[in-house]
Amino acid sequence: MNRIFSGVQPSGNLHLGNYLGALRNWVRLQRDYECIYCLVDLHAITQWQEPAQLAAQTREAAAGLLACGIDPKTSILFNQSRVPAHAELAWVFNCVARMGWLNRMTQFKEKAGKDRENASVGLFDYPVLMAADILAYKATHVPVGEDQKQHLELARDIAQKFNHDFGVEFFPLTEPLILGEATRVMSLRDGSKKMSKTDASDHSRINLTDTADAIADKLKRAKTDPLPLPDSVEELEKRPEADNLVTIYAALGDKTRSDVLRHFSGKGFAEFKRELTELAVSVLSPLNAEMRRLMADPGAIDTVLRRGAERADAIARPILAEVHRIVGFLRA
Ligand code: TRP
Repeated sequence: MNRIFSGVQPSGNLHLGNYLGALRNWVRLQRDYECIYCLVDLHAITQWQEPAQLAAQTREAAAGLLACGIDPKTSILFNQSRVPAHAELAWVFNCVARMGWLNRMTQFKEKAGKDRENASVGLFDYPVLMAADILAYKATHVPVGEDQKQHLELARDIAQKFNHDFGVEFFPLTEPLILGEATRVMSLRDGSKKMSKTDASDHSRINLTDTADAIADKLKRAKTDPLPLPDSVEELEKRPEADNLVTIYAALGDKTRSDVLRHFSGKGFAEFKRELTELAVSVLSPLNAEMRRLMADPGAIDTVLRRGAERADAIARPILAEVHRIVGFLRA
């Protein structure tokens, strides 16, 4: 049986990068897999979150996923902290994973920056919790972007060491699912940085909650260069901001970058941006409207999450009980 697990942090607004890079694929995967999608609030607090905002953002992220097409009747959608198996299995895995393995994680180095001494222990331990997320359900596949591949490798290492140390064949070696379409969307202000929920400038991203006017304004002000659009992808790749906008256009229109260049080469950014805005608004407005409709009834969203947590718990609980038995915890 194939089972997908994936997670997204409810640490800010869902944006176009989340949509094109992950959520759109999550929706497609529902056709072929049993899917478990998780709002990882335990991961979110590895960096400071205002409590009232965290709760509101979790609900909003749930609305975003539902609006994009996650179907809670088939897929499981819930927030992580509701299912105790995540934190509990993470503790066991803390005793399986080695310091040396975690010391090699590049995302910790990036997120902690220069002030490593002041980073939370949770931020260092983040990948172990992620391994627990996946393995608490014995997920066979995880759709991941480039930046999470190393964490998935770690989950495989933990599964393998657990199986080896305890002499069992219990956890699967979860496979990454790299989808052709997964688009890496960059900041609208800096073509070398990923579009991010936590970027200080709201003009760096297009949020799923942005109105048509906001989208138009952000794209108009998106960084570009003075040259017209090139006629080859090779030339395009030398210009990160231009490449980013063409990539977004291609992803939104289900085209390749060459298709887009064939149409726009030699034209200026003013014209290109006008058409990009039209396309972005046409794709995002229905999502935006559906999100607003869902947000008007927070009780209904909470019911979806509660139901999702119950279903998730029903899968994870027996797996965790088996882990306890394997490890040798006394159950009287
Ligand atoms: N670390 C992932 C991210 O930031 C989110 C995440 C948490 C996740 N647990 C997961 C993704 C398990 C896949 C599987 O994108």
